[in-house]
Amino acid sequence: TGHVALDHGFMNTAACESKITFIDGDEGILRYRGYPIEELAEKSTFLEVSYLLIYGELPTAAQQAEFNGKLRMHTLLHEEMRRFFDGFPRDAHPMAVLSSAVSALSTFYQDSLDPFDRDHVEMSTVRLMAKVPTIASYAHKKSIGQPLLYPDNRLGYVEDFLRMTFGVPAQEYEVDPVHAKALDLLFILHADHEQNCSTSTVRLVGSSQANLFASVSAGVNALFGPLHGGANQSVQEMLSEIHRTGGDVEAFVRKVKNKEDGVRLMGFGHRVYKNYDPRAALVKKAAQDVLAKLHKPDPLLDIAMRLEEIALADEYFVSRKLYPNVDFYTGVIYKAMGFPTKMFTVLFALGRLPGWIAQWREMIEDPATKLGRPRQVYVGASRRPYTPIESR
Ligand code: CMC
Repeated sequence: TGHVALDHGFMNTAACESKITFIDGDEGILRYRGYPIEELAEKSTFLEVSYLLIYGELPTAAQQAEFNGKLRMHTLLHEEMRRFFDGFPRDAHPMAVLSSAVSALSTFYQDSLDPFDRDHVEMSTVRLMAKVPTIASYAHKKSIGQPLLYPDNRLGYVEDFLRMTFGVPAQEYEVDPVHAKALDLLFILHADHEQNCSTSTVRLVGSSQANLFASVSAGVNALFGPLHGGANQSVQEMLSEIHRTGGDVEAFVRKVKNKEDGVRLMGFGHRVYKNYDPRAALVKKAAQDVLAKLHKPDPLLDIAMRLEEIALADEYFVSRKLYPNVDFYTGVIYKAMGFPTKMFTVLFALGRLPGWIAQWREMIEDPATKLGRPRQVYVGASRRPYTPIESR
């Protein structure tokens, strides 16, 4: 079979060329299409960043208006699809509901599934961007037993998602601009991160020429895991547990260092960043601002900052180059807005969606793309004769 290089976790293997996102993990640099994340965080909006990632350039005012207009036309879910939400158990994890619903889009939109037809791809792009916030809010509504709200296309993208999530029928819902601004920022910070686990999944599934909905739903499932997007939920659970048991941050850090029961400091460490994650720096500042603006101090933010302080001064973390990652401080903000912990990873998925779409489109348009098919190093039994069942 020739020589194959063994590379657990693809630590050393590039599987594609990409023009979308640049990361320098040693320097802590992140850029989308060349624009530094810090500048986009300060000056851009999530829909502008989505356009930039998907189409490659910042939009003109007319291009942005056209894109936003198209999204507004497609926010409704098919009525038959609304009924799906009745079938799931009430305590279902919203990430499982989200991936199922995204997968189901291929059943409703059979008219736009050809990965090589530009109009189809454009249509699926718009449908996904427009419908995923509706799906995400329904996953939440279902879990708390409240009626599902139809989209209101007079509102902005993030604003309407907040209304569908927290509003109730026949009652005016005032979107808090502090919430909307903070969520828009968090979506920008999550929008792409080159070949992470979920994005590589989207590309791998797509490399078989599966359609965009099928590929993205696989990405949602990859994001669900606690080492990836699920880390934001795990961080929240970890901070709450430290708080509930008396707030002894030092004792918890000792536990992590001794690797007791495999406990990790969730929200710390990254495959690529061996320096401060630039997103974590922006999220930390946003968490402090948002809590101050909302007058909602949270003891969990204090615990998180204390954990960071201790870890960054500790040999264990220093020698392994473990710094806070994007998930470390996001939960504090989500919680202040009223999201239950189970929704945190769904919010990550909403932010990552344009990145998945952009990467899938780049993959499908790249003539160098081949079916993704890793090799293996076989270490099982060598050839042996079959034993009949009576003699085993
Ligand atoms: N707490 C304690 N020790 C850690 C941690 C942590 N969070 N992360 C890594 N280490 C240790 C690990 O035990 C190992 O030490 P040793 O050599 O003594 O065995 C060393 O650091 C290298 O770790 P690794 O697991 O080989 O490194 P990796 O590149 O495979 O791991 C990671 C990357 C993100 C999976 C890992 O750092 C981790 O599990 N972090 C916690 C989960 C988390 O926060 N995930 C979110 C990642 S950022 C957002 C996203 O991409 O979704």
